Amino acid sequence: MNSIDKVWIIDFGSQYTQLIARRVRELSIFSEIVLPDITADEIKKNSVSAIILSGGPASVNDPGSPDIDGSIFELNIPILGICYGLQLICRHFGGQVHSGDKREYGKSKMIINQKHKLFTGLDSGTQVWMSHGDHIDKIPDDFSIIAESENRAPAAIVNDERKIYGIQFHPEVEHTVEGMTILDNFLTTIADLNKNWTPKHFIDEKIKEIRETVGDKKVLMALSGGVDSSVMAVLLDRALGEQCTAVFIDNGLLRLNEDTKVVNQLKDKLKIPVEKYDYSDQFLNALQGVTDPEKKRKIIGNVFIEVFEEITEKHKDFNFLAQGTLYPDVIESRSVKGESEVIKSHHNVGGLPERMKLKLIEPFNSLFKDEVRAIGRELGINKFILGRHPFPGPGLGVRIPGEITRAKLEILKKADDIFITELRRSGQYDRVWQAFVVLIPVKTVGVMGDQRTYENAVALRAVNSSDGMTADWSRLPAELLATVSNRIVNEIQGINRVVYDITSKPPGTIEWE
Ligand code: XMP
Repeated sequence: MNSIDKVWIIDFGSQYTQLIARRVRELSIFSEIVLPDITADEIKKNSVSAIILSGGPASVNDPGSPDIDGSIFELNIPILGICYGLQLICRHFGGQVHSGDKREYGKSKMIINQKHKLFTGLDSGTQVWMSHGDHIDKIPDDFSIIAESENRAPAAIVNDERKIYGIQFHPEVEHTVEGMTILDNFLTTIADLNKNWTPKHFIDEKIKEIRETVGDKKVLMALSGGVDSSVMAVLLDRALGEQCTAVFIDNGLLRLNEDTKVVNQLKDKLKIPVEKYDYSDQFLNALQGVTDPEKKRKIIGNVFIEVFEEITEKHKDFNFLAQGTLYPDVIESRSVKGESEVIKSHHNVGGLPERMKLKLIEPFNSLFKDEVRAIGRELGINKFILGRHPFPGPGLGVRIPGEITRAKLEILKKADDIFITELRRSGQYDRVWQAFVVLIPVKTVGVMGDQRTYENAVALRAVNSSDGMTADWSRLPAELLATVSNRIVNEIQGINRVVYDITSKPPGTIEWE
């Protein structure tokens, strides 16, 4: 089997870095994002076949702006610099970058003034997306300009001998109409990479890697029953068979009857036996009186660790803990050298305390959800399981702003069940990325029969997204919303008002907390 060609994207904090990674993988080429402190040695050791330098908010002229190990430019590995990446190349090779006055933001026309393999398949002019404050005043001596922007500023520079390329625009953004062709040209024509990142390759490589890492030791798998952990369970089962034990923790923050559904589904459909532990009291007691969203997340994360410590006491001979963590979980929880902000602490990303001695296995921590679904299909997992909406680790705990109580949880579970049931019945479930209900802890006045009511409100949330990083609210049919609203208000005591959340991400997030 050919080994998988690998692209590393060095992240300078651009909001589009994840998108670059996705686009590369859409071309069936494997990519990972790394930080600017990566060394030339690490790049060599990992057999990286091409490098992309991302954009970023800093100016290369600022003191302390992110830089890379200069010897990376001497590795003779093809490099494509995008925006900030281009400016870094420019500065490194003795060109000049000017800060300030000529900002270019938005759609722009690029004029190609020299035929080049980076632009194979393109006409002489094409629409690109610009987003930069700095511009190049003087390109380095050994480079030539192959395209310019409408303002006659360099839009693309190349040094074919060194295989170093720089573009001022963002090929990863849809507004760059031929962005995918340009990326494809760089990766396949210039860097000569094979398009061999298929789910089957990924599975074969991961199985090999997991077997090498684990040896004859034992693995505890933490399952939530969601898409990621179900696919992970099947992959690990293939790799290690009986060396794995699956555990499912009821934290009291699950959907209606979720605990039984998950255990049965794993047992019956995936043939994975699961040990179920009910720790709902511990979680709910620890959350008593807590209203701050980040505190709630931290508490839930900490109780998970405590619970795992207890469980591993019972399974002393286990050396590894496997989790279905995805790439967006990692990204949203980390701060890239202080440049991007932590949005939410995803409980499953904090790592494990030293004292636990368990080592983490996270086979999907560089993938997006739709990629995991593709792997699941390759593993033969059924559509129903793969089609399940994402469900966050802290569960309903982040869908009850304010204090979490058992009474509120009961109400929310019923409302959520009605919404999901009706979505399935109407055929809309598979058309949305994720749908759920949020309990709004605010009482409003209503009238039922001849009586005044004074009860809580709920919000329905349904979004379309391809990876959870950005999202738009789903335009669900009005009839469906009406049915859900009627059923919730009529069937659930304690709710007298239903609203529909029409906020996209950004500026909102998908969950309310
Ligand atoms: P947000 O609310 O950040 O959510 O826009 C993006 C996606 O991530 C899910 N989410 C989580 N998943 N642990 C998880 O495993 C978490 O702590 C967590 N918080 C949010 C969310 O449901 C959505 O799909």
